[in-house]
Amino acid sequence: MKSKRANVNIALLKYWGKKDQKINLPHQTSVSVTADIFYTRTNVEIDEKLIRDKVMLDGKELTGLQYTRVVQHLSTMREYFKRKEFCVVTSVNNVYVRAGYASSASSFAALTAAYVDAIGAKVNEKELSQIARLGSGSATRSIHGGFVVWHQGHDHESSFAEKLPIEWPEFRMLFTIIDPSVKRISSRIGMQITIEKAPSYDIYVRQSNDLVAPMIDALMKHEIDTVGRIAERSAELMRNVMLEAGLEYHTPMTQKVIQSIRSIRSKHRIPVYYTFDAGPNLILLTLDKHVDQVMKLLPDVKIQVSGVGGGISDADL
Ligand code: PMV
Repeated sequence: MKSKRANVNIALLKYWGKKDQKINLPHQTSVSVTADIFYTRTNVEIDEKLIRDKVMLDGKELTGLQYTRVVQHLSTMREYFKRKEFCVVTSVNNVYVRAGYASSASSFAALTAAYVDAIGAKVNEKELSQIARLGSGSATRSIHGGFVVWHQGHDHESSFAEKLPIEWPEFRMLFTIIDPSVKRISSRIGMQITIEKAPSYDIYVRQSNDLVAPMIDALMKHEIDTVGRIAERSAELMRNVMLEAGLEYHTPMTQKVIQSIRSIRSKHRIPVYYTFDAGPNLILLTLDKHVDQVMKLLPDVKIQVSGVGGGISDADL
């Protein structure tokens, strides 16, 4: 069966909070790198005889909240393209869901591309990223490969992701598996709680947006230390407002590994940095030539290494 493949992406500059929840307009411009080891493949078949959508994920028919989220995005796309027919969605996620990593970016990017393909609509990548955003914020960045900027924008038209003109094949992400359990509070809800409860949320938004130009500049110059330092600052700024709002996603083990990363950097002079999302796992950022040494210095941490991945592509399912 033919399908569309979308890779997961990791934000080097985070977004955390929406100014419009209906169309997922973020408060911040974010910058990400697409990974090549974790992805979703999705096929969509339009079926005029169906009276409701059918969604298969990893061989099982979806029900409940997960089903509702998929159907909501399908309904949004039907409205967008002025279509009526229901469809059968067949999707396969690879292992990262079970490792505790969020899957919404690759899932909604693949679903968007597969639906557009199924109805035969002609849509460019910019528009595809706008439509993917309606399903899940971070999905807007997974349309593209490489290094990507998501311009926050002020309405549907101006909020889209764009591939940056950066080739950096030596860049590596090391996905640690610190706690594989599913996170308790979803990003969607966590962001809202943060906006409502964190006293310095507005300052955070300004500080976060101030990092965009320096991050893109450092990526262009392949300066791993500057990229790493800014990525850590972005993640820690996000964590500060989460904590102000009473949200703790880290476990003691997360903090312990962060200490190890800092000591690898200072004692061994290896450029390795960390980032994290709304969960306990860290993603380490480094270069190809340092991967073996970093893994040797973290013998107790389960790690999966990823290079830089591509954008939406055709794949067999
Ligand atoms: O759009 P969501 O619900 O997948 O939220 C993603 C939020 C973070 O992963 C924490 C940050 C980011 O920019 O990806």
